[in-house]
Amino acid sequence: MHITDALTQVNLDANLEDFEKLLRESVAVNDDFLSEVSRHLIEAGGKRIRPILAIASAAAGGSEITREVLLSGIAVELVHLASLYHDDVMDDASQRRSVESVNFRWGNLVAIVAGDYLLAKAAGIAARLGQEIAELLANTLADLCAGQILEVQTSYLVSRSHDSYFKAISGKTASLMATACRIGALAANLDRNHIEAVTKIGRSLGMVFQIRDDILDLVATTEVLGKMPAQDLLEGIYTLPVLETLKMPYRIDLEPLLTRNMDQASLDKAGEIIIASGGIAKAWQTAQNFALESRLSAAELKSPIAGELGSLAQFLLDETYSIVQPYLDAKA
Ligand code: IPE
Ligand code: IPE
Ligand code: MG
Ligand code: MG
Repeated sequence: MHITDALTQVNLDANLEDFEKLLRESVAVNDDFLSEVSRHLIEAGGKRIRPILAIASAAAGGSEITREVLLSGIAVELVHLASLYHDDVMDDASQRRSVESVNFRWGNLVAIVAGDYLLAKAAGIAARLGQEIAELLANTLADLCAGQILEVQTSYLVSRSHDSYFKAISGKTASLMATACRIGALAANLDRNHIEAVTKIGRSLGMVFQIRDDILDLVATTEVLGKMPAQDLLEGIYTLPVLETLKMPYRIDLEPLLTRNMDQASLDKAGEIIIASGGIAKAWQTAQNFALESRLSAAELKSPIAGELGSLAQFLLDETYSIVQPYLDAKA
């Protein structure tokens, strides 16, 4: 299953083919090394969910998929790519999109500068799409940085609050998803009502997306993820399932395990406690609530494509259900 299956009313295949060509062109540079490094993750694949959101948000308002709409999708995908280059440095990750991460292959310095290069390319494209889009993308990048910094500030903090968690994921993930939808609608010159509604759809979808990623980090395998699991516990990032468990009497057993340099035995034990406590199930329910919010925002728009766009968050959860299901009613 792929997210394009959930958007049957948009002609995504042809548009994505043009998109891929433009994406490679957008990072072309007269330097073999920078070219190789900046194409590394583009060629490794990825779901392209953000450009798909931009295209679908334009189509949902009845617009043609113009070159401007495709370029708006490129600008968000480049910001996303750059954030992955930088995030993998922050998390000391070794794998991404089922290949070696840039930092692992070429070192942190190269990953940071190549990430900056991708951001510069995104800024140039956004500037050509107009002042509102350029400003939107700049503000989104600021939100993303604020979210990442907030997360770093709360690392290894067992007293991390739910509010702080939601604020961090809203900044680091939901902002860019909201912008992916908004930028497509803006590039298609759609009306304000449409622009605001698709922005809300994208924001709730982004919350679902990150909570789902945080659950999968605890229960999925490297093969499924294309990146190493258990990274959040190892980095001291206590995500929603962990915070839910820490609110319960299970805290007494979990807290002593949450240390720096957790070994495999502690990771396994922590995982068992989080599952037994119902922490995964609670986080899953919160994701379901955000998916409902996304659908409700779509109901403000009457088009069938908007309906599909609003159901995308639910589609992502349903697609993951078979992996998560064994951990949902595993209360000991
Ligand atoms: C990964 O995003 C980063 C998060 C926000 C969790 P994606 O899961 O969209 O990554 P790709 O683009 O498909 O690799
Ligand atoms: C998303 O958070 C980070 C970005 C916004 C780039 P994660 O740290 O959970 O993302 P993954 O799991 O490494 O993809
Ligand atoms: Mg990460
Ligand atoms: Mg993650």
